[in-house]
Amino acid sequence: GRIDKAYPTVCGHTGPVLDIEWCPHNDDVIASGSEDCAVKVWQIPENGLVVPLMEPVVSLEGHSKRVGVVTWHPTARNVLLSADTGCDNVVLIWNVGTGEELYRLEDQHPDLIYNACWNRNGSLFCTACKDKTVRVIDPRRETVVVAIEKAHEGARPMRAIFVADNKILTTGFSRMSERQIALWDQSNTSDSMIVQELDTSNGVLLPFYDPDTNILYICGKGDSSIRYFELTDESPYIHFLSTFSSKEPQRGMGFMPKRGLDVNKCEIARFYKLHERKCEPIIMTVPRKYELFFGPPSSSTALPPAKEEPQPTQSFYALLPLATGYLRPFVFVSCVNIGVKIRGFSVNSKSPGYVASVGLTLTVRTGTHAQTADSALISELVGEIKALKETVKEQGDRIEKLESKLAKIEDGDV
Ligand SMILES: *[C@@H]1O[C@H](CO)[C@@H](O)[C@H](O)[C@H]1NC(C)=O
Ligand SMILES: *[C@@H]1O[C@H](CO)[C@@H](O)[C@H](O)[C@H]1NC(C)=O
Repeated sequence: GRIDKAYPTVCGHTGPVLDIEWCPHNDDVIASGSEDCAVKVWQIPENGLVVPLMEPVVSLEGHSKRVGVVTWHPTARNVLLSADTGCDNVVLIWNVGTGEELYRLEDQHPDLIYNACWNRNGSLFCTACKDKTVRVIDPRRETVVVAIEKAHEGARPMRAIFVADNKILTTGFSRMSERQIALWDQSNTSDSMIVQELDTSNGVLLPFYDPDTNILYICGKGDSSIRYFELTDESPYIHFLSTFSSKEPQRGMGFMPKRGLDVNKCEIARFYKLHERKCEPIIMTVPRKYELFFGPPSSSTALPPAKEEPQPTQSFYALLPLATGYLRPFVFVSCVNIGVKIRGFSVNSKSPGYVASVGLTLTVRTGTHAQTADSALISELVGEIKALKETVKEQGDRIEKLESKLAKIEDGDV
């Protein structure tokens, strides 16, 4: 966890970085928001940083106040939401590929935005605001579709996240400064489904939710513990499971995307706990004997679709199975990747040389959840694969011809 002072960092912002998030569609890409009013997207080299990274892939300039919230769209590629947490309280949704603003939401938030969270398919996002209201916003209609006023009565910061079945989970403070978590039904916000008081303390409660296991993790800033709960459809909806305790307090917390977990070790969550000067991984596992109760450790997780262009009007996700020991005979093609590259081909130079590489990666995964991949999609993907195979064959033939030409050149025949 401890890093050397000389260790290379991503250091292209001119002000403190306030928020970062890994891209769900590319494991080497992060977005950051900063006090310098910019949102930047970074490409981390495959084997990590060797030298400091100053130049972002793209710098998104549109905010005029500090940017405290960045969050990627869960299903459309290259779509990023950012919110300034100065006094403009503007939410922007970007097409990162072109650097354009897709949506600008002004005048919806009268005060500081604490956080923003997309729902699972990205059709809506919710925000927690300093005016104590949680808003559910439809970005396509640019309207607030649900507003939960006084979600928590206390003046200290709140958080709001989507959890299963259109439910929203909030954390905040009561008027007496007790820390609370509450669950809301988006279709009936007259009252919360349940409010639970945790304790009396100052630290903001950071919620992390895993929709595959329905486990909610609550990390209080400045606490040294992580409490976790199971969410169910039956009252009282929020069921306390246990507490992970350690000695040192957490200054912040990161959550590993599910695809990064080691399921063979029954890992169901991994946190990155930020200390004063180090970062410590905290690994949550389910003992094998509880598999029947929990199912296989998180049997599937959301898989981002292989869409190249941002398609904010379409949302879909397939489920990526994580534990291969529990498969039913159902197959869907989850991603197709093809690359044909010819580099450095030169016939004019004195010592002609070339490097040619043909790559075809075809990942066919078997899954336990059939309902999200329909047959039209499968046949479309199968069609695409056929076309790609054709292309590979053509390129292969071409390379063969070029190779024999090159051999002739080397032999001095030409
Ligand atoms: C809305 O939720 C509250 C609290 O759960 C409940 O008392 C009320 O009956 C619900 N109203 C409707 C119309 O379902
Ligand atoms: C996205 O999810 C919401 C809530 O579950 C649902 O109402 C909506 O129809 C979904 N949209 C798409 C495009 O699948």
